[in-house]
Amino acid sequence: MKNTSVTFKEAKAKGEKLTMLTAYDYSTAKLLDESGVNSILVGDSLGMVMLGYEDTLSVTMDDMIHHTAAVARGAKNALVIADMPFMSYQTSVYDAVVNAGRLVKEGRAQAVKLEGGLEICDHIKAIVNASIPVCGHIGLTPQSINAFGGFKVQGKCEAAAKRLLDEARAIEEAGAFSVVLECVPAALAKKISELISIPTIGIGAGAGCDGQVLVYQDMLAMYSDFKPKFVKQYANVGDIMKDAFKSYISEVSSGVFPAEEHSFKIDEEIIKKLY
Ligand code: KIV
Repeated sequence: MKNTSVTFKEAKAKGEKLTMLTAYDYSTAKLLDESGVNSILVGDSLGMVMLGYEDTLSVTMDDMIHHTAAVARGAKNALVIADMPFMSYQTSVYDAVVNAGRLVKEGRAQAVKLEGGLEICDHIKAIVNASIPVCGHIGLTPQSINAFGGFKVQGKCEAAAKRLLDEARAIEEAGAFSVVLECVPAALAKKISELISIPTIGIGAGAGCDGQVLVYQDMLAMYSDFKPKFVKQYANVGDIMKDAFKSYISEVSSGVFPAEEHSFKIDEEIIKKLY
């Protein structure tokens, strides 16, 4: 069954946990979709895990549209959510609507995700008024890395915990259909999840959220630059890939590959006539 922003809200009402993973290309999106994940996030994490930047700040609208369109072609049932990249919405409400529209129109996203709290609620309202479902994102918001001074757990003191709850409520009030909580203490994320009616999707926010999201290269051990504490590695695909690449290199070097079954035939007489 096709997942939508509406089925997300219904899942919370029924107490069903939601699953979300990132993808940035057609083949991976197809594998995720066939596995039955509720949602595929085309995260701006693509800047780091696909493009090799040290943070997400350099990702452009063109990058996001290009990768979202590839994912959308591979996702039949999963809800495709595209991240709005740094400076595609912070600049004005107008820019936010125009760029959200481009992700839907050109990238075929079914929803967009924006980082930030009270300061972007007007942007969320305007995008929702344009009939584009919005997922919020609070806690550790990587686009604010320079303001935070690093990748740090958010909401640890009373004032910060209260602020996060206020932000979650404001995002719900602005019309978002869900909100990502990143790097938030588990008990705080659970409390926020209980106090708002839209689903919370946690990453480094404990088991009390209504759903979970991970970057797929992290959970498959394919990205070796950095391993956050909250990541569980479900398989070591990085090592499996390296073993396969090494076998290929060795077989090509020794002449084992390609074998006859990988080659095309031609009448020997034709070859004999060539000189
Ligand atoms: O960009 C991304 O992949 C994200 C997730 C980590 C939530 O925003």
